[in-house]
Amino acid sequence: MDFKQVRQDFPLLRNDKILYFDSACQSLRPQVVIDKLVEYYTDYPACGGRSMHKLASRVTEEVDKAREEVAGFFNAKKKEEIIFTRNTTEGINLIAQSIGFKSGETLVTSDKEHNSNLIPWQMMVERVGIKHLIISSLSDNTFDLSSFESVLKENKVRLVSIVHTSNLDGVTNPIEQIIKLAHRNNVLVLIDAAQSAGHQKIDVRKIDADFLVCSGHKMLGPSGIGILYGKQKLLEGLQPFLVGGDTVANSTYETHEFLPIPQRFEAGLQDYAGIIGLGEALRYLRNIGMEEIAKKEVELNDYLTTKLTELPQVKIVGPHDAKLRGGIISFYIEKINVHQIALMLSEQNIMVRSGQHCVHSWFNAHHLKGTIRVSFYFYNTVGEIDIFVEKLKKIVDILS
Ligand SMILES: Cc1ncc(COP(=O)(O)O)c(C=O)c1O
Repeated sequence: MDFKQVRQDFPLLRNDKILYFDSACQSLRPQVVIDKLVEYYTDYPACGGRSMHKLASRVTEEVDKAREEVAGFFNAKKKEEIIFTRNTTEGINLIAQSIGFKSGETLVTSDKEHNSNLIPWQMMVERVGIKHLIISSLSDNTFDLSSFESVLKENKVRLVSIVHTSNLDGVTNPIEQIIKLAHRNNVLVLIDAAQSAGHQKIDVRKIDADFLVCSGHKMLGPSGIGILYGKQKLLEGLQPFLVGGDTVANSTYETHEFLPIPQRFEAGLQDYAGIIGLGEALRYLRNIGMEEIAKKEVELNDYLTTKLTELPQVKIVGPHDAKLRGGIISFYIEKINVHQIALMLSEQNIMVRSGQHCVHSWFNAHHLKGTIRVSFYFYNTVGEIDIFVEKLKKIVDILS
């Protein structure tokens, strides 16, 4: 793959003016995805699955193709196992509200969950009375499998809801082993794949995932569209969370008859452009190849990690080995405000994220104010990293 040429596919990168290192927040979109959105709004801006006219039939067809593309991307058994949501957050809330947790039942997460995989469960603790157990990470911030195994043995756990790749430090949890251990104890697993789905190959059947959620905007797709994958039997056992138009086959004044999956979970008029654009994004990713993407990101991260390790003031969060951190590096510099660094970098057209990255709980527990997070995608280059390091050094000199 010619990764230099690939930059031409992204309008923002064509003139090399912007250094975009915030793909963990939102990735850039290639022209083909933008064109697909325009195609929907220009050529067939109708609603799918309802009206009989030909514009509506085209929408239904395109949505169906997108669902097939998503199913193929994750190697789901059937396209009906793919539910379109707004984002990862909605997918997790859907499971939390629909799985039928009862008072006293136990949920397990890690200590590095995004607020989207923490607050919905805290609400379940408050409202339903579930028990929430948290697995503490090892000292290098990687997952503690043996402590996880003990927790599973000592408690009657109903669900493990766990981040796959951490948006805080880029560490990817050993999801296959986590699922194996959970299943051995008859426990279901929900994977928060917001940061992994667009960056590495995930085969839901190979890893035997029960549920998986992710967001289109972090994998070249439009904003406001997400994915919930679930095994057919499990999805059929959930109580729909949002209900209304297009979720039922029939209703009387007193009763209703739900449609099969996935429709019963896709209430109201859908973001057709978003769904169709997401299908195009995954087609594009598939053509590049997920293994190549993962390899390129580690190369970039390794290069920046080596450069930053040469600066004694820089403290990297998580393991120092970039291979364990995919395309993300999170760091801080003692006594310097991370937001100030980010603002000064932005003045130089370098976009990074600063703060606590929606993982306040971890930062509070570690008494840290925040980090600078550089997050790569395959469209970034070593040349960009050289510019970044040079500018960062100057900023640190000014602020020290
Ligand atoms: C690990 C992780 N989980 C969940 C989310 C929430 O994603 P969204 O805001 O798209 O719902 C994010 C977003 O950054 C994330 O990084």
